[in-house]
Amino acid sequence: MNRGMGLAQNYETFKTDINKTLGIDLNAYKEQQMRRRINQWLNRYGLESFDELIRKIQDDPEHRSRFTEYLTINTSHFFRDTTVFSAIDSTVIPDITRHNKRPRIWSAGASIGAEIYSIAIMLAEKGVTARELLATDIDQAILTKAEAGVYHENQISNIEPVLLSKYFIREGTNSYVIHDGIRRQVTFRQHDLLKDPYQRDFDLILCRNVFIYFTAETQKRLISNFVESLRPGGYFVVGSAEQIMDPGSYDLQRVSYCIYQKA
Ligand SMILES: C[S@@+](CC[C@H](N)C(=O)[O-])C[C@H]1O[C@@H](n2cnc3c(N)ncnc32)[C@H](O)[C@@H]1O
Repeated sequence: MNRGMGLAQNYETFKTDINKTLGIDLNAYKEQQMRRRINQWLNRYGLESFDELIRKIQDDPEHRSRFTEYLTINTSHFFRDTTVFSAIDSTVIPDITRHNKRPRIWSAGASIGAEIYSIAIMLAEKGVTARELLATDIDQAILTKAEAGVYHENQISNIEPVLLSKYFIREGTNSYVIHDGIRRQVTFRQHDLLKDPYQRDFDLILCRNVFIYFTAETQKRLISNFVESLRPGGYFVVGSAEQIMDPGSYDLQRVSYCIYQKA
């Protein structure tokens, strides 16, 4: 049976139910992509309808947590996109830490924390202490994982061996735990980019591989919010599939691949 066809009519109700039960506003996400993922989930668990899924989410906390994780798509790994991280290392960090300044950095849509920990490692290598390293995500369960700082070897494969041995402890055959000294520098907080207020005065904001799931209209709104949250001269970093077509209209200037600076 093609469940997608039969469910076409009640997707509107489903979106309302998801907002009520999980607090996630699916209207801001690209519809086709979302529906395809949700239908895959129904097939995987043999669920016959959106209603059945809603009931399952309400009754089974484990299913609820796994579905939230799936819905918000939180794959990530350390130093994801090495070109971008080397530009952050060679250009952005030296600029925002000039005159011994302690920067404020925000990883939005932080998932398992690999992005903010990668930044923390880069700062540690330069002997820089941040004033704030903030990691936020809509999904509390993934933030709890991030805070634990335990990673599978696939997630750390981009880390240079010298950094791996310096900042991680091997646990069992294929797990690595990040050092407490790095872990404790990061503040993890649940935050919905669509609804919650944004903190201000950041020197660097990374929001990577999050926009791709949102509609064009939502993307524009969020970019404006992020620009408001940056200090003048602060940097905004996006994912490789999320280039900003008209940076000037947001008061941004493209300085490198995926990296923009506020005027
Ligand atoms: C693919 S991960 C990106 C992780 C990391 N930034 C990276 O590039 O490797 C996308 C993350 O965005 C989060 N996310 C999705 N919708 C969100 C929202 N409305 N507010 C905050 N985070 C959201 C998901 O929970 C997920 O952890």
